[in-house]
Amino acid sequence: MINTFSKFHQLIINWYHVNGRKNLPWQTEKTPYKIWLSEIMLQQTQVKTVIPYFNVFIKKFPNFNSLKLASINEILYLWSGLGYYTRAKNLYKTTKIIAEKYNNQFPDNFIDLVKLPGIGKSTAGAILSLAFGYYYPILDGNVKRVLTRYYAISTEMNKRKTENELWKTIDKITPIYNTGKFNQAMMDLGSLICKRTNPKCNICPLHINCITLSKKNFEKYPKKYTNKNILKKTFYFLILQYNHYVLLKKRPSYGIWANLFSFPEFYNEINALSWMKNKKIKKNEKKIINPMYHYLTHLQLYIVPIYINLTLLQKNNIYHNSNAIWYNLTKPQLIGLSSPVKKILNKL
Ligand code: ADE
Repeated sequence: MINTFSKFHQLIINWYHVNGRKNLPWQTEKTPYKIWLSEIMLQQTQVKTVIPYFNVFIKKFPNFNSLKLASINEILYLWSGLGYYTRAKNLYKTTKIIAEKYNNQFPDNFIDLVKLPGIGKSTAGAILSLAFGYYYPILDGNVKRVLTRYYAISTEMNKRKTENELWKTIDKITPIYNTGKFNQAMMDLGSLICKRTNPKCNICPLHINCITLSKKNFEKYPKKYTNKNILKKTFYFLILQYNHYVLLKKRPSYGIWANLFSFPEFYNEINALSWMKNKKIKKNEKKIINPMYHYLTHLQLYIVPIYINLTLLQKNNIYHNSNAIWYNLTKPQLIGLSSPVKKILNKL
């Protein structure tokens, strides 16, 4: 290693004092509850996307005791559009465990924290260092990029080996004092300076000894892997509207958009229309609304909304189970919606 470890953390903390983020909504009062919620929202999601969701969530559920009374539907409603909905389900499960097993108090130790749904090694480290002020390293995507570049750590080994190497490195350089500041600084540096594309090396506190910068090796550290296994699918959404009511159906508890409400969905237009015929659905008007692409981790969806205006409200002959609702556009029910469904409903 070119730099001594102590020099590394000093450079990072000095940079943080001037340039780090200190006024994010979850930083004004660093309770375990707020730090936990923000860290779950920040998994695979950028700060600027999370801020409005966090603020609305905290307004409705300002503390743990309010959240422990929430239903999964209320949580999914506030999560609508944020994506990765398993996080919301895990949040709900964790709330129940903390209420029942830990007497409404967040565990302040690593062993209990990592057992909670949705909390891995890095999120546990973030909670312990940012909320409790303890010494625990973190390793999120931003930190990984900084380390990979600075030390030229190959990401071409198998995933487990790369992870081990990165954890070994961050364990060594994380300081025992000011761990929270250092951790926040590393995340900030990764997202504001050591960006995936166009990193701002000229203003980076680590530029002098960064191996990747000295060798101009940005394609290799970290190596980009394009996901060749992306599946392409087309969904036809059937939008049945009568006055200000729209039919929505709850999705199963597995697969994409689990437990969220969505439009009846078909693989082609003919299926959609023959389903309507079978159900004896009477229409005034049919039109195709602008199709849209929607990207999920392993899926590229092409969504074709078929809009049908109904001549009458057919309550009983469409779905016989309670998992379907007539969504009231003027007084919307508080339910979880995926972001394409939310977008389409906003247009109606
Ligand atoms: N990503 C994950 N946790 C974060 C945090 N606390 N600040 C900025 N980005 C993050």
